Amino acid sequence: MTHTLLLVGHGKMGGVLLERLANTAIFSAVHVISPHHTQKDSGNIHWHRDLASLPLPVSPTVVTFAVKPAMLESLLPHYAARFAAGPLYLSVAAGKTLSFYQKHLGAHAHIVRAMPNTPSLIGEGMTALCAADTLPASARKTATDMMQAVGAVLWVEESQMDAVTALSGCGPAYVFLFIDSMVKAGVASGLTEAQAKTLAMQTLRGSHALAAHSGKSFDELCAQVASPGGATEAALNQLKKNDALQNLIATAMQAAITRTREMAKS
Ligand SMILES: NC(=O)c1ccc[n+]([C@@H]2O[C@H](COP(=O)([O-])OP(=O)(O)OC[C@H]3O[C@@H](n4cnc5c(N)ncnc54)[C@H](OP(=O)(O)O)[C@@H]3O)[C@@H](O)[C@H]2O)c1
Repeated sequence: MTHTLLLVGHGKMGGVLLERLANTAIFSAVHVISPHHTQKDSGNIHWHRDLASLPLPVSPTVVTFAVKPAMLESLLPHYAARFAAGPLYLSVAAGKTLSFYQKHLGAHAHIVRAMPNTPSLIGEGMTALCAADTLPASARKTATDMMQAVGAVLWVEESQMDAVTALSGCGPAYVFLFIDSMVKAGVASGLTEAQAKTLAMQTLRGSHALAAHSGKSFDELCAQVASPGGATEAALNQLKKNDALQNLIATAMQAAITRTREMAKS
């Protein structure tokens, strides 16, 4: 079955979703609501400034919310009034709970919470999904198919969604910062920026591929690089001193979880 998508919000994540989803076989038409857009309709993509200007015959089978979490409380009642419990509602907003959506969209509405990340832009995203046990299998499949168009999909319990946000939702930024730190340290050690970037990027790519294919634990993979008394061990001793890196990452992810919960309340 092909679907009609109504994408609400065309910011960073809405833009990523539109870019990848517009040309999939899943959607025969995509309508985007974006208050300040300047785009013209093209192909199967139709632009609107608000819900009121969406033509009445348009009846989306999937409505995706890609707006800031704080906007949802005022927005959702308008969508509930217009579409009732008809479409599958899939929201990428961080923090807002299934019960929050049910309160504003109706107890019987089909709702999926999704947490994608920005590598979705190139089809390499990681999206975690959760829904009530009562969500029909067909709706679950639609959500899976839709988010597989932007990368890998993992269904989790709702209680795990804040941890997912802190890990894979925010995670690309941690990785970019880590690569940038390696590049800066490489430049400080005598490499050009271009050389350091080439070395760091391919090291990340190769290490990821090795970890994915070797079946070895991260400890075993580290041990493969670090011979006793050698250079890698000297470096690892710094990163592991008092669990420095582990503690920093844990503190950073806890800050992301706390902020996600604060934003969900606002
Ligand atoms: N960025 C990420 O990596 C990421 C990852 C996972 C989940 N998310 C989630 O995705 C959601 C959006 O985040 P973002 O980073 O894309 O934020 P963003 O760039 O600020 O985008 C939000 C968009 O919502 C639009 N908007 C505001 N009011 C609207 C309305 N009444 N109807 C329709 N659109 C409206 C804004 O349009 P104007 O600018 O024209 O006002 C803006 O383009 C958040 O809930 C976030 O938790 C983001």
